[in-house]
Formats: sequence, structure tokens, C-alpha cells
Amino acid sequence: MTRRNQRHAEIWAIGGGKGGIGKSFLISNVANYLALHDKKVVLIDADLGGANLHTFFGVNKPRTTLTEFFDEKIPIEALIIDSGIQNLELLVGAVGSLAMDSIKYTQKQKLLRHIRKLRADYILIDLGAGTHFNAIDTFLLANKMIVCVVPEIIAIENLYYYLKNVFYRKLITELASHGLRGLVPDIWKHRRTHRIQNLRQLIQHLGRLQDPVPDVVASALKNFAVYIVLNKVRRRPEIAVGSSVKSICAKYFGFHACYAGYIEHDDFVPICINKRQPYMQAYPASRCTQEIGEVAENLIHGRPFVRALHEVS
Ligand SMILES: Nc1ncnc2c1ncn2[C@@H]1O[C@H](COP(=O)(O)OP(=O)(O)O)[C@@H](O)[C@H]1O
Ligand SMILES: [Mg+2]
Repeated sequence: MTRRNQRHAEIWAIGGGKGGIGKSFLISNVANYLALHDKKVVLIDADLGGANLHTFFGVNKPRTTLTEFFDEKIPIEALIIDSGIQNLELLVGAVGSLAMDSIKYTQKQKLLRHIRKLRADYILIDLGAGTHFNAIDTFLLANKMIVCVVPEIIAIENLYYYLKNVFYRKLITELASHGLRGLVPDIWKHRRTHRIQNLRQLIQHLGRLQDPVPDVVASALKNFAVYIVLNKVRRRPEIAVGSSVKSICAKYFGFHACYAGYIEHDDFVPICINKRQPYMQAYPASRCTQEIGEVAENLIHGRPFVRALHEVS
């Protein structure tokens, strides 16, 4: 039996924020980097609003999608298509996808069970910008949750909104599994009485309640693995945006986020997409390719981007 058969793949998901900030570009290139480094990768396009990952690799959208998985019981392996890059395969979501608003709970569970069993080292999921709880729940299931942001105030605000929703949902679901489903919504509804103004104060409040609440919240905080990637950087001082987003997360939301690195703006990115050329293949030695590699390595090792600390101060 090979090593790949013995253990489950690690799941990374990218989601939230805003459309057009580079989530699909980032995840497809991180997938490409992992594949180039001999990792077997399945990249899943679960962005209902704009399933376009196949375009980043210049391949056509397959006729069979996850709709057939549900309706015709076609095995998930049969839906996987070649990306044109060794070690990298694609699964295009379309209707019935993980982020779909109306997907039933049992369907979602079935799909996730099958996804988990795929033979790969890494399964990367592009959830798009959706904030429906189906998309958020899938995001929360990932071993690593990646968010993307660009140095623009609207994108940053959208990211905060998304992260708040994600962590709030995490608290609700973790407490629900201990029979305390209504606790967080109830406290939040009466937050003025409890003198709670933000998520961090909510967490502090929960930490003072009776067992098992403090332990459940502490473990939710501990395994909340969010990685921030800053994209479309044009000027050096903008690199600091990643660090300030991380600080805001700690100060107002009460959880730790890891700034995994930045990727600069490169005019050749849209040119490659229009030519249906994978960016890394076209520009293997560009600064952008190098930065994607750094981000991918930081994600693999679960470590922060260290250069930012001294470059920015
Ligand atoms: N680092 C970058 N430099 C230049 N353009 C970029 C970069 N990243 C993304 N883009 C451009 O931004 C557009 C949106 O990217 P995309 O990955 O589709 O965003 P999202 O998935 O967040 O909606 C793409 O057409 C691409 O050309
Ligand atoms: Mg996208």
C-alpha cells in the first residue's frame, strides 16, 4: 500500500472576502506549486457565483459536474478532470456544489465524505465569496482556512465581516455539539445587557460561564486556523496591511490569524488568464511566482510570513 492510500488528504479552503481580489488565482497557483513539488492535488471549484478555475489552466468546463454526482450517482472520481499539469486534477462544482444555498444537510455530508476519501495529498477548495452557512461550514471543516485580501478598504471591511461570521458560526456549532445550541445567539441578542461590544468581549464573557463552556471556547480558539494572504500589492508599505488585519483580529475578534504572506500585482496575470495559460508555467521565474511559493511553504508549515515584520517596521 502506498503512503497516499494510508492517510487522508489535508484540506485547505479559500473563501469569503470580496469577488475579484484573486482568490481563484491564488488557490490555483498554490495548487500548481504543490503539484510541482510532487504533491498530488485535487482542486475543487465550489464557487457557484463564478466557477472559473478551469480557465486558469486553460481547460474546458466538463460536461459532468457535481449535479451528476447527486442526480445520477456518478462516483466523484469520475467527475475529476485533468488540469494539464502533472499531479494536479480538477473537480468543477456547478449546481449542487458545496456552497449552494439550498443543498441539503445529508447531501452536503455525503459529498464531503466522498471528497475526504479522494486519493491526494492535498484537497484545495475554492468557495468563492459566499457567506451562506453551507459555504461557511465547508470552510470551517478545512484543516487550513485561507482568506485573501487586497490593500483596499472595502476588501478589508469585507474580510472582517466574513471572519466575524465564520468565527461566530464556529462558536455556535462547537457549543451545539455540547447541547448548547442557543447559548451564543441568546447572549449576542442581549449583548447590551452583558456589556458586550465585540466578538472578543463575547469570547471573554463565554470564558466566565460554567463548564464546559470555557473549555469548548478555548479549544475553538486553539484550532481556528486562519491564514491571511495579501494580494495585488503595488507598493512596499502596503505589505503592512496583512499585519494590521492580523492585529485587528486579535484585538476585536479575540482569535489568532496567521499572516502567510503577500503577492504583488503583476500585469501579466490577466494576460495569462486571457491566453488561458497557467501563470506559473508562463512565468516560472517572476517575483509573483516566487511569492506564491513562499505563501505555499508558509501554509504547508503553518507559519507566518517573517519578512514582513522587519521590512515594514
Ligand atoms: N497578483 C495579481 N496581479 C494582477 N492581477 C491579478 C492578481 N491576482 C488576481 N488578479 C486579477 O484579478 C482578477 C480577479 O481574480 P480572481 O482570482 O478571479 O478573483 P476572485 O476569485 O477573488 O473573484 C483576475 O482576472 C486576475 O487577472
Ligand atoms: Mg474566484
